[in-house]
Amino acid sequence: MTDHLASDPLATLAWLLESGAEEAIGETPINRFALKPPPAATTPLQARPLPSAAAARPTPAAPAAQAAMPLEGEAIASAQSLAKAATNLAELRAALEGFEGCGLKKNCANTVFADGNPTSRIMFIGEAPGAEEDRQGLPFVGRAGKLLDKMMAAIHLDRSSAYITNVLNWRPPQNRDPSPEEAAMCLPFLRRHIELVNPGIIILLGAVAARHVLGFSEGIMKLRGRWLEYRVNDVMIPVMATLHPAYLLRQPAHKKLAWRDLQAAEEKIIALGLLEKHSSIH
Ligand code: URA
Repeated sequence: MTDHLASDPLATLAWLLESGAEEAIGETPINRFALKPPPAATTPLQARPLPSAAAARPTPAAPAAQAAMPLEGEAIASAQSLAKAATNLAELRAALEGFEGCGLKKNCANTVFADGNPTSRIMFIGEAPGAEEDRQGLPFVGRAGKLLDKMMAAIHLDRSSAYITNVLNWRPPQNRDPSPEEAAMCLPFLRRHIELVNPGIIILLGAVAARHVLGFSEGIMKLRGRWLEYRVNDVMIPVMATLHPAYLLRQPAHKKLAWRDLQAAEEKIIALGLLEKHSSIH
């Protein structure tokens, strides 16, 4: 940044926007130049000696690195016991809101729990909140959410007749994919969430949901459009994986595939009588 920008906050803001910054993640500005350690004397890359066998021997981990693994393990164990202890959705939400094990939470305005009708037997599961979801504390309220509303309407559903949540309850920075550790910390809550909602059908939105809920590594194009199953205790719940609305916004030509998946889901919903409770539908 030039001196002129540093002394002109408006010009700085314009420069940040032009550079692709979407939002501020802290209220107090941090002077990262002041935090930067003085440059260490560096060896030019080519001049670095190749590690000898002795040098390659594992060295004891630094205390911070040693602490990282157990902490993650502890956070997952704590997520598991908190989730298990929740006997209803209100308790589960409170447990999640009090859970400090997932690093994503510290950059988020809200814990995004769920939206829709908690007595519905039709459960949609997406990936993770985006910027708008984080702001409002509700899943699928941004651009992708508007498309999800249309997708639901196409099969005669809405937020009063279906229930919506995500694999992750906090927004990953820049909407990146969750790391395996972040997903592992949220999954115990999601699994308990599914048990408590007791859906008769689950519709997974996108590859990340399919991967983490079902544990499959295949891409969404292989998984979508066929009936899969999710087991809760001894009950097998039918699962339809389909394309994520955010993907469909980028690839509208693939909407016809999602439409087929949704039609199959609607047939199943009718065949299983899952709409009977909802007078607002049909
Ligand atoms: N994408 C998701 O997967 N979930 C949301 O809540 C919003 C966008």
